[in-house]
Amino acid sequence: MQREFIMQMQPWFGDEEKRSISAYMDENGFMTEFKRTEQFEKMIAEYTGAKHCIVVNNGTISLTLAALALNIGVGDDVIVPNFTMIATPNSVKMIGASPVFVDVEPETLCLNIELVKKAITPKTKAIMLVSANGRYPLAGVEAFVALANEKGLYLIEDSAQSLGSYYPNGKHIGTVGVLGSFSFSAPKIISTGQGGCLVTNDDDVAFRLRRLKDFGRSGGGNDIHDWIGYNFKFTELQACLGIEQMKKLAGRVEVKKIMYRRFQEGLKAVQGIRLFDHDLNNTTPWFVDSFAERREELQAFLKAHQIGTRIMYPPINKQKAYGVAGEHPISDLVGQKGLWLPSTTQLPLEDVDYICEKIRSFYGA
Ligand SMILES: Cc1ncc(COP(=O)(O)O)c(C=O)c1O
Repeated sequence: MQREFIMQMQPWFGDEEKRSISAYMDENGFMTEFKRTEQFEKMIAEYTGAKHCIVVNNGTISLTLAALALNIGVGDDVIVPNFTMIATPNSVKMIGASPVFVDVEPETLCLNIELVKKAITPKTKAIMLVSANGRYPLAGVEAFVALANEKGLYLIEDSAQSLGSYYPNGKHIGTVGVLGSFSFSAPKIISTGQGGCLVTNDDDVAFRLRRLKDFGRSGGGNDIHDWIGYNFKFTELQACLGIEQMKKLAGRVEVKKIMYRRFQEGLKAVQGIRLFDHDLNNTTPWFVDSFAERREELQAFLKAHQIGTRIMYPPINKQKAYGVAGEHPISDLVGQKGLWLPSTTQLPLEDVDYICEKIRSFYGA
């Protein structure tokens, strides 16, 4: 009998989510954000240790909203990593700002601070620090805070992949810059289908975010508008999912770490593939990322053995959508060798062993 296909990623919802949605439906609520959304926001604020959490419809618009709240717009530059999900630069492109691509560190795939320093000009307004796969830059987030302060820039943390990951100083990733952004899209450690949020410790920024995401209304449900705002709101149904998912987060964090260690152990002797050194004491890998020799061949081989993989994000400056000149060797390398192995939280360890065995056999290890 053929074994079932192992997906590279898959959300994980259970009976608890079903029951919660069903109970909400019996209440005849408005569906629009209300008490359950507030509860979900409170859970994230408590988990991350942030003063405020504001949920929105996804982890791209959260970044756009962050930029709007900080008055970033036409004529402003925002430094972003050249290796990230394309949502990071697109979020500011949408409001007329220009993303400036900077290469990442080979060890962490997070922004290289020395290159960031060189890229800062009088037009730079913000740095979007992406914690790639839950990792933090080798230079340390404190160096980014100091740089941003010295140059009068905003540090926005795109922590879409980092719920459950902390800096070595004990602060949750996303809570050190002026704003941190998270995503709850399908492959994330917790999901609401689509969804995202911003966390901040700044009361004024939180106030601006809440107004801007709700048409610029001066108060809940009224039609008095002193500002131009938008509709970036959540729904109670998503909050029902999110609340139940948050209850499972601590367990998932542990599972992700155990799984990552098992992959590291199973592949440590293999010359052709290299996993990243993760600080598993503090951070939680969202995906199992690797540099793989003969990547496409390996991918086809694994697929023939019912194992799904995914090619990591190509260098953004070379995507047709941007086509910006510049050499960024590390993000180029990811474009050539970066491969995500199966990373679903529900992946049994026996399947991890099977995947490692197949990879070893591919490389003749
Ligand atoms: C680093 C990063 N930023 C932003 C996003 C966008 O999030 P969403 O899909 O919720 O819009 C993602 C999604 O994977 C991401 O990985």
